[in-house]
Order: sequence, then C-alpha cells, then structure tokens
Amino acid sequence: MKYSCIRGTGSYLPAQVVTNYDLEKKIETTHQWIVERTGIHSRHIAEDHESALSMAEAAGRAALAMAGIAAADLDMIIVATTTPERVFPATACELQAALGAGQCPAFDLNATACAGFMYGIGIADQFIRTGKIKHALVIGSEMMSRIVDWSDRRTCVLFGDGAGAVVLSSSDTPGIMTTCLHADGRFVDMLNIPSNLGRPTSRKFTGQAVLNMQGNTLFRQAVNILGGLFDETLAAGGVSAKEIDWLIPHQANLRIIDAMAKKLDLPTERVAITLATHANTSSASIPLALDGSVRDGRIKRGDLLLLEGFGGGLAWGSALVRF
Ligand code: COA
Repeated sequence: MKYSCIRGTGSYLPAQVVTNYDLEKKIETTHQWIVERTGIHSRHIAEDHESALSMAEAAGRAALAMAGIAAADLDMIIVATTTPERVFPATACELQAALGAGQCPAFDLNATACAGFMYGIGIADQFIRTGKIKHALVIGSEMMSRIVDWSDRRTCVLFGDGAGAVVLSSSDTPGIMTTCLHADGRFVDMLNIPSNLGRPTSRKFTGQAVLNMQGNTLFRQAVNILGGLFDETLAAGGVSAKEIDWLIPHQANLRIIDAMAKKLDLPTERVAITLATHANTSSASIPLALDGSVRDGRIKRGDLLLLEGFGGGLAWGSALVRF
C-alpha cells in the first residue's frame, strides 16, 4: 500500500506591504473596522513585474529545495490559481518549462478558488496512492490585487498576493491520511468574478470584471460548511479532535478561524494564523501558513495537521496530514 507525504514546503510573498492605514488614505475605511471585522492588519501586494507564475516559481523552488527533489524528478505539477496570465495554456505548463521539469502532466485548478490548493492535494494524493506517480508539486499562487475593485471597500481590504507550495512524495506510511472535497454550485452568486469569455452573447456582462462577494451570507455558510467538513474529515481519518496538533485553515476571517479552533477545542497557539499580515491570499493561504509554521519550527515532523479551504463555487476541501 502506498501513501503520499509532504516532503517539502515553500512560499513567496511580494516585498511590498500595504497596511490598513495606507488604505485609509485611498478609500472610506478605518484600520479599526478592518481589524475588528477581519483580523487583517496588512497585506503583501505584488509589483508590476510579478505574476502568479513568477510567485509560483519562487514558492515551488523553495519547496523542491526543502524536499531535496530536482524539478526533473517531478511526475505532476498542479497550480491552483484564479489569476493566470493566460486563459490557456495553464500556468502549470509555463512553470514546468521555467523549472526545467520533464514532460509530466501539468495543469491549473482555477474554478475552485480559495479551495484550489485542497483540490490539488486531493488529486495528487490519489495519483501517488495508486502508484501512478511518485512526486507532485502542488502550488497555490494568487495575484488578488489584480482582480479586486480597489474602489470597493467591502472587498479590496480583504485580499493580498502570494504563493505557497508543497512537494508530495510517495511514502510507505501515511502522510496524507485522508482528503475530503466538495462543491455546491447552487451558491455561485455568493462569490465570483464575471467574464464574457464563453458567455452567451445575449447575456453579455457589461459591468466591471472584478471580484464580487456577498460577505455576510458567505460568512454564515463558511462556519456551517467547515463545521461539517471537520466532522467528516476526522471520521474519515479515524481520529478524534483531541489528536489534532495543528489547524492550518484558509485565511479569510479571524472570526471564522476562531470558531473553527473552538470546534476542535484547539488553543490559538495551535492554529497557523497568517491573516494579520497576509490577508486572504485565496488558494495560496493554506500552503503559506503551513510553510511559515514549518520554517519557524512550530510544526514538527510527526505532528497531526488538519488543513481546510473554502471559497467560490462554493467549493471546499480538507486534508488530514501526519507531517
Ligand atoms: N470599512 C468600513 N466599513 C465597511 C467596510 C470597510 N472596509 N466594508 C464594509 N463596511 C460597512 C458596510 O458598508 C456596512 O455598513 P452599513 O451597515 O452602513 O451598510 C457595515 O460595514 C457592515 O458590513 P457587513 O458586510 O455586514 O460586515 P460583516 O461584519 O459581514 O464583515 C466581511 C464583512 C466581508 C469581513 C465578512 O462578512 C466576511 O469575512 N465574510 C466571509 C468572507 C469569506 O469567508 N470568504 C471566504 C472565501 S474567500
């Protein structure tokens, strides 16, 4: 029986930091409102020359270095991103060439938005378990600053740019103990970015192609859905909440994260929280939080981790991981 394990992690954040106070000067908001409602203090915003591809490459190289794997050894590359440079080919194909990897399958996951990294882990894990592949690079890379409306205070204060990556490798012992993936397309209107590509011309979209979010409704859905996801994941992995050492949540709102930690009865210091300084980096938020806690030594080999992501679709997913 084969399993997959996380052999290396990596991440990248643009150097430029934009604080809530900086935003106060541009839109009608306050540092206090943003902190009280979300937990966000600042976010990293990319420079003009950066892209989802360049950030994915930096995060991917860091994960490969930690794993001690050469790009040529990769059997699969998955990039979760909602901000590719092109509709096609996939960012993952461009990344494959940039890294000098071989002719392995390389594809993007974009429809799953903030849950994209969890979908990537779920897919790569299945390929490794069946013995089809040995090493996969799974990345979340998001240029949220280019798809938010900077005049809409309800959304622009919430997001940031960045990328996170893991190398999953074949292992005789689990690693990834279980993954759970879900979507519910009845809620497409809660969080989306409209586009005219492929849209019936009779329903041509004339507004601004920027991120739309029904924050309040989404908040309630997130708490409900994630509660059920935790129960499902623990049952599928055959472990109790007490056994979890670390929660690595998607970073959308500190109040959601706190509610989830409470459900697991985990103290805050056992939750990887990056929201204050990263804001919501969509599919990059989970691998960014994971890599940060691994590199500063808080997460150790052998720890039991619960990873969860939730976003547009609605789509959500989790992984129970023996690190
Ligand atoms: N600065 C100041 N005031 C703001 C503001 C800002 N940046 N954004 C919104 N407001 C105002 C609103 O206009 C509203 O004012 P009104 O009552 O006069 O109409 C008030 O604050 C409350 O807005 P509301 O949207 O109800 O706030 P909220 O408590 O729901 O917090 C979110 C908003 C977005 C922070 C919160 O709903 C949230 O985090 N939702 C979940 C997001 C999520 O999970 N995403 C996951 C997928 S990425």
